[in-house]
Amino acid sequence: MSYHVLRSESMDALTILFYYNERALATPNDVMVQQLPRAYCVMSDRVMFLMQLSVPDELQHQGIGSRLLQLVAAQARLEGCRRIDVDDMSLRFRALNNIYKKHGFRYRRDTGPEMYASPADVISRAALIHGG
Ligand SMILES: CC(C)(COP(=O)(O)OP(=O)(O)OC[C@H]1O[C@@H](n2cnc3c(N)ncnc32)[C@H](O)[C@@H]1OP(=O)(O)O)[C@@H](O)C(=O)NCCC(=O)NCCS
Repeated sequence: MSYHVLRSESMDALTILFYYNERALATPNDVMVQQLPRAYCVMSDRVMFLMQLSVPDELQHQGIGSRLLQLVAAQARLEGCRRIDVDDMSLRFRALNNIYKKHGFRYRRDTGPEMYASPADVISRAALIHGG
């Protein structure tokens, strides 16, 4: 299994780092320094906010970003979140083949980057995306 989760609880927020690597690493810093594929989330008030989704160029288009999004959704459901929020800062901002749109996220308004989905919205897309 190449996907790992680091969960860290502080007074008022929970941060969760998902990453992809052949072996489990010890600290979030290792993940950042090594530029590993990762999704970084902060959870508060039953909302999971996806702060960062990043897959290095040489590993893109192999389904890793999608898998990370699915892990985020599964964890959000486990944590009892009602919603996952993300600001779409991607190069495919509002494009038809935007990764977040593919995974069931919707834009909050007619303009702007704010998107949202329920964990169930995202999980139910997995089968469609992976040919189920
Ligand atoms: C967006 C990103 C995480 C996707 O990771 P990935 O592992 O290549 O994703 P997958 O292989 O699971 O899925 C690829 C699909 O994601 C979508 N996608 C690819 N690049 C994208 C981008 N820059 N922005 C939004 N969606 C993108 C496309 O639908 C693509 O399908 P295609 O290969 O048929 O074109 C990766 O391209 C990346 O890290 N880009 C740079 C950083 C970034 O834009 N992060 C999001 C900031 S909000």
